[in-house]
Amino acid sequence: MLEFPDGFLWGAATAAHQIEGNNVNSNWWAMEHDPGTTIVEPSGDAADSYHRFRDDMRLLADLGLNSYRFSVEWARIEPERGFVSRAEIDHYRRMVDTALEFGLEPVVTLMHFTVPRWFDRDGFWRAPDAADLFARYAEIALPIVSSGVRYVCTINEPNIAAMLAGGEDSANLVAYGLPNPDLGVADALLASHRRSREVLSSVPGLQSGWTVATQAFRATGEPGSAETLRSYGYPRDDWYLESARGDDFVGVQAYTRTFIGASGPLPVAEGVETTLTGWEYYPPAAEDGIRSAWELSGHVPVMVTENGIATADDSRRIDYTRDALAGVHRAIDDGVTVLGYQHWSALDNYEWASGYAPTFGLIAWDRETFERMPKPSAAWYGEVARANALAV
Ligand code: NOJ
Repeated sequence: MLEFPDGFLWGAATAAHQIEGNNVNSNWWAMEHDPGTTIVEPSGDAADSYHRFRDDMRLLADLGLNSYRFSVEWARIEPERGFVSRAEIDHYRRMVDTALEFGLEPVVTLMHFTVPRWFDRDGFWRAPDAADLFARYAEIALPIVSSGVRYVCTINEPNIAAMLAGGEDSANLVAYGLPNPDLGVADALLASHRRSREVLSSVPGLQSGWTVATQAFRATGEPGSAETLRSYGYPRDDWYLESARGDDFVGVQAYTRTFIGASGPLPVAEGVETTLTGWEYYPPAAEDGIRSAWELSGHVPVMVTENGIATADDSRRIDYTRDALAGVHRAIDDGVTVLGYQHWSALDNYEWASGYAPTFGLIAWDRETFERMPKPSAAWYGEVARANALAV
């Protein structure tokens, strides 16, 4: 048995747009419905978790988990520039209270890829006042996290957001390894992160950080591959982790690794197992991400805020997670402070441009009745959480 530290967080993660449904005021909803879109299907009702969050949280708690990571939706909270929806603030505060009631440590994300349409219209992350607007949103959202919340993630995967802003088609959101990050957007995201951390620091006991996609790009070693690697988002990923120096914690989101040859990212080699997103089945991703985050941030405590696989073969989800957790445990053994592990994802959900086909969830649900159907992996993971230990 591999024992985990006392107080280790065993959670599952979600994001508002991917499970709530009808997030009509967000830039993503607009993109999904753009006539020229390459997004395979719109998000629609998603898992209707906007209305069913209480049942979802109860299910996670009953399984044995002690934490839940979810995001609050800027497009709902500030549907028009400067207009605050008190009802939506109440809604998200109820989510926090429900998590606390069920003994789930809430880990709240302020921005998980989606922004209000007006923010998009007014210049997106390129607007000179983008960081002011984000800081104001953090202030508006403060009542949601002003008591009982220890962990807030400001911005989810700023490195992916900056790469998308670099002119890539959103369909490539699934393909980690995009070239040409928009460095201006990266700077705006960092400024927004810092400004919102300042706002959040007024809440006693609240810790904040951002969550970085640790993409594990590796050069093949062939001539030119190292140079190409540098142009494919690296060392920018390092920059995001280095920028977490002085933060309360840093989130690691790790799934796979990508080899970079002289002419760019390579397809997964023949014969190597892939998941439904086409990524290499690579359970050590979490350990790799933890170790680089710890080193590059100068030993800021790490939380695995996402890790998992899209698969229709739930027994492979268990295998993957067991191996990933053994790696997390190795890092802890070596002295890395790891606060917890949030499995991606609690529920099957809307995988952005790929739609509903890649199933990452511990829990499936019926597309017509929304009935929740926990998979064997959910029960397995719940047992690990209850025991605070992993059988290997
Ligand atoms: C990272 C993103 O934060 C999340 O939204 C996405 O669904 C997962 N990775 C899987 O691609």
